Amino acid sequence: MEKNEKKLKEDETEKKEEIGIEDIPGVGEATAEKLRESNYTDVMAIAVASPSDMANLTGIGEGAAAKIIAAARKIADVGNFETGDEIYQRRKGVQKLTSGSHNLDTLLGGGLETQAISEFFGEFGSGKTQIMHQLAVTATMPIERGGFNTDVIIIDTENTFRPERIIQMAKAKDLDSDEVLARIRVARAYNSHHQILLGDRAGEIAKEHPARLLIVDSLTSHFRSEYMGRGSLSERQQLLNRHMHDLLRFGTLHNAVIAVTNQVSARPDVFFGDPMAPVGGNIVGHTATFRIYLRKGKAGKRIARLIDSPYLPEGETVLQVSEDGVSDGT
Ligand code: GTP
Ligand code: MG
Repeated sequence: MEKNEKKLKEDETEKKEEIGIEDIPGVGEATAEKLRESNYTDVMAIAVASPSDMANLTGIGEGAAAKIIAAARKIADVGNFETGDEIYQRRKGVQKLTSGSHNLDTLLGGGLETQAISEFFGEFGSGKTQIMHQLAVTATMPIERGGFNTDVIIIDTENTFRPERIIQMAKAKDLDSDEVLARIRVARAYNSHHQILLGDRAGEIAKEHPARLLIVDSLTSHFRSEYMGRGSLSERQQLLNRHMHDLLRFGTLHNAVIAVTNQVSARPDVFFGDPMAPVGGNIVGHTATFRIYLRKGKAGKRIARLIDSPYLPEGETVLQVSEDGVSDGT
């Protein structure tokens, strides 16, 4: 564990001195400009490009493009290989956080896992934000009660964080609500770029105030509204991908739960019986380890369905959102 943490911390330090495309030997200002105009905005994108594509898009000669790509490959931060036993050591540190609902915990194999992204998606009012509030409260609870006794970081993109709800939920768990509130740090993200920066900043905050729960509510709303139309889709997916990998990195480094929410968008084809699909498509789907689809049931009940888990069976369960927060409701 310690060795891994150290290694990851080294990675993180390297990442801080992020290299720009001007750092690629042979790329001057004019070339950098041409590259940017054709959406080659970072070293990684250039490292994986093909010389002929780059030549066609930018007007740089194919030979020169090949040289730029080769140089980019040398300096790109590709990351490290880890041995199986290193990964095993790290995986042994995985812990599970209670959601407040025993049913939901069971569906997730005992709670929300650290070192992974859990994505809750569903229609408006399906309870995503309520569950995020509940997680922020349970995370502060002692280990014996299924919590992590930890501070919490929330990136709030829709201005839906409500301290009043935290107070209600904390009281329902016999916790000191002032103490709980003092352990939750909330930042409002004004647009997708701001959100990405805050994701990055979370790592800094956690150095001073170790936080083992990071919430992003909502992961996709800014991206969805800012990048409309087919033309901007690849840029949106690229940024979302980077953001999610930053989050996952936080999860691994701090052995933290990463909980995010996602809306659904109407889709002409049928998705699990509902004509809805999560926003963000494959990028979000492939990076999130656990995807939980929420829908409304009767009388405050919610139905949660686990989708695409790496090792848990798919299944459904029922939970309840009430004044006291999230529970089984029985
Ligand atoms: P969007 O962010 O709009 O996509 O929705 P969401 O999935 O985040 O929905 P959210 O978690 O905000 O759920 C709102 C619903 O939770 C309300 O319609 C209520 O049914 C329920 N709810 C919220 N607060 C309370 C409360 O204090 N008491 C009770 N009983 N229910 C509540
Ligand atoms: Mg919400």
